[in-house]
Amino acid sequence: MTQKYFATPIYYVNGKPHIGSAYCTLATDTIARYWRTKLGNENVLFLTGTDENSQKTIDAAENAAISIEEYLSRMAGTWKSTFMDVNVSFNDFIRTTEARHTKTVQAIAQTIHKNDDIYKGTYKGKYCTGCEAFYKEADLTEDGCCPTHLKPVKEIEEENYFFRLSKYQDALLEFYEKNPNWLQPTKRKNEILSFIKSGLEDVSISREGAEIGIPIPWAPEHKMYVWFEAVLNYYTAIDTEEQKSFWPNLVNIIGKDITRFHCVMLPAMLMSAGLPLQAGVFAHGFFTVNGHKMSKSLGNVVDPLELSAQYGNDALRIGLLSSFEFGNDGDFSADNFAEFYRSKLAGGVGNLFNRVVVLIHKFLDGDKTPLVMNTKEISENTFCQNVLIKNEKMKTAIEAYKLKETIDTYFEIIALANERLNETEVWKLAKTDKEAATKIFAELFFALEALTEAATFLLPESHEKMTSMLGDVNNVGEKMQLFPQK
Ligand code: MSP
Repeated sequence: MTQKYFATPIYYVNGKPHIGSAYCTLATDTIARYWRTKLGNENVLFLTGTDENSQKTIDAAENAAISIEEYLSRMAGTWKSTFMDVNVSFNDFIRTTEARHTKTVQAIAQTIHKNDDIYKGTYKGKYCTGCEAFYKEADLTEDGCCPTHLKPVKEIEEENYFFRLSKYQDALLEFYEKNPNWLQPTKRKNEILSFIKSGLEDVSISREGAEIGIPIPWAPEHKMYVWFEAVLNYYTAIDTEEQKSFWPNLVNIIGKDITRFHCVMLPAMLMSAGLPLQAGVFAHGFFTVNGHKMSKSLGNVVDPLELSAQYGNDALRIGLLSSFEFGNDGDFSADNFAEFYRSKLAGGVGNLFNRVVVLIHKFLDGDKTPLVMNTKEISENTFCQNVLIKNEKMKTAIEAYKLKETIDTYFEIIALANERLNETEVWKLAKTDKEAATKIFAELFFALEALTEAATFLLPESHEKMTSMLGDVNNVGEKMQLFPQK
């Protein structure tokens, strides 16, 4: 039986979720929900969680003047409850300070060590705590700052353990050659290929005397470099007899900033440990807010909980995911979001469901029997065929990670149905020719059923309301408003 395993990156806990992290998580959630409809709940696993063994954590706990443990449990709680509040259907939430993670990571590190891919050396380099990464001189800005955080990097020299990444250069190139669609979109694959071809250097994987972190099992005074253990969280989560079969089906949905860790370092570590590689990686783009990078210092960080309180969880999801094609960068603006809600959700989805259900209630007395079409009628009906074509298009798009195209196609079905309503003026027709009007109602009902089915993954909260609206078309009232006008 086919299985699918989707995972978001695990999030640093030095801040709370913003629309960038919500975007990645809701995208993964939407994809996981889609596959559950296709493969069954038991064959889809969706993992998210928090990355806690980081210097950032220590700094943030110090700023908050509380102990690291207290800080971690408070922040992990915030991330988990935020995701639950915005209706993220994760199956597992992993924290890298959990015992299960330490156990798995130490076992894998031992295997890599036994395979002679870890050795001791001295590291001298420039380190950015913001990225938790070393930089080459050539990667820094002209004034020697980190290219992402634009802050000075730290000069570090210490005894470290190193992972023989360089040894895997050819194997990685061969893997990419054989699996051309493994990393998407293509532009990200090209970046990674040229990074590998430019020559891989061994990477330092330990810190001497770090305050927090997972001890290197054979030299516990050294703690593992946070990225070395963090990328293994995906394996920790399935490291049980029942869950193991999910592993080779893992698809990482990540931001474009962390492809090197997921598409070079992790695969090389897995090769060394003798484990199968992930099934694939999709790297999405970044949100800016009104054209600016989102940052605490600019004070333009958008809180997903505020958006959801104002517009609802479904609007948050579909509003973010339809802003720009998954894989590209794009912009968020409160005005565009409000306009999307007004025209597409209230004026589009909500209005269509309301109109059709009210008409059926009024003219058919809520009797749905004449709305049922048999297979032959459906196959001979142009409108229904057009709906089915769009339905298929949505499925093909989401399977190819084209989330915006999936949502645009959903709205094309709404447009088709509205067009049919208006061209037939069915509300007038029903007064003069009930039989002809009933046929149109049946077509419109067919469209609503397709829209309800796709709402399972695109508008999961509305899906329930839609199901109950279609279940009992006499149930028309205020409470059945899907997206009230604001
Ligand atoms: N902890 C690491 C990931 C470890 S995975 C083994 C990390 N955490 S993060 O919290 O900084 O970022 C998590 C994800 O959020 C990244 O994929 C990043 O790309 C994404 N985003 C952060 N800001 C974003 C935007 N403004 N827009 C879209 N996604 C962004 O990196």
